[in-house]
Amino acid sequence: MLYPVWDVSQRLVHWLFPILIGFSWWSAENDRMQWHAYAGYALLALVMWRLLWGFVGSHYARFGQFWPSLSRLRSYIKRGDDTDLGHNPLGALSVFTLLLLILIQAVSGLFNTDELFLDGPLVVIASDKVIELSSEVHELVWLLLQVFIGLHLAAITWYRFVRKRNLVRAMWFGQGVPKLSEHQPRSVLFALSLLAGVVVIGWGLGSLLPEPEPLYYW
Ligand code: HEM
Ligand code: HEM
Repeated sequence: MLYPVWDVSQRLVHWLFPILIGFSWWSAENDRMQWHAYAGYALLALVMWRLLWGFVGSHYARFGQFWPSLSRLRSYIKRGDDTDLGHNPLGALSVFTLLLLILIQAVSGLFNTDELFLDGPLVVIASDKVIELSSEVHELVWLLLQVFIGLHLAAITWYRFVRKRNLVRAMWFGQGVPKLSEHQPRSVLFALSLLAGVVVIGWGLGSLLPEPEPLYYW
């Protein structure tokens, strides 16, 4: 029996990234700040889920499977071929960078304020210095995210036209790739339980915070 390389939960979560990041940008640009916060919380939960999936998820989602060690990077660059299943070491570097940037962006948002429509939930417990720093981080990491998303899309396009490999089909359908995996993926129920765990812990921690100060639009 053969299975898709990317399991269905991993694929669903992946496509939620562009949707929610696009929505985060749109909501911030159009002062829909409460929606911006909801999209940010969703991204934070999904990125936490993906980080945990890197330890307990399906075979090809595990960080140990594609950890970009120096020796793997060197041999990949020397070999120049990437017909193996899963992320290649350079792709892995971009995966870690994107996940890390989304995490930093969401966490810095929690301390961010526009002083008009939205205070992040951790503003009540942060000093002015931390709030100022978070606002700078939120702005800078947004720029970096755009650069790395651009590189991500450029790399996928390069694979499509130069290497003649359609990676999008694999990320979309899971199959439709020349090679499938012999590893059975983790169940969707297990993935959902993990996500529920992340949400409940986040919610629980959030409910311990003091009530925020009222803002202009209240
Ligand atoms: C905000 C935009 C995006 C972000 C943050 C993002 C992030 C990621 C991440 C974190 C992975 C690793 C998946 C994992 O290991 O679970 C990945 C893989 C992938 N993404 Fe995206 N992605 C974005 C947009 C897109 C778009 C628009 C496409 C298609 C045109 C795309 C196509 C792919 C493909 C094909 C892979 C698998 C690459 C491989 O085979 O190694 N991504 N992306
Ligand atoms: C990965 C998730 C997030 C993304 C991609 C994102 C993206 C953005 C973008 C593009 C802007 C406008 C540009 C800027 O001033 O930096 C912005 C502003 C802002 N974000 Fe986020 N954000 C995220 C998470 C959050 C969260 C979780 C919160 C709080 C609950 C938050 C609170 C804010 C605030 C208050 C502003 C306005 C800052 C100002 O006007 O100076 N963000 N965000």
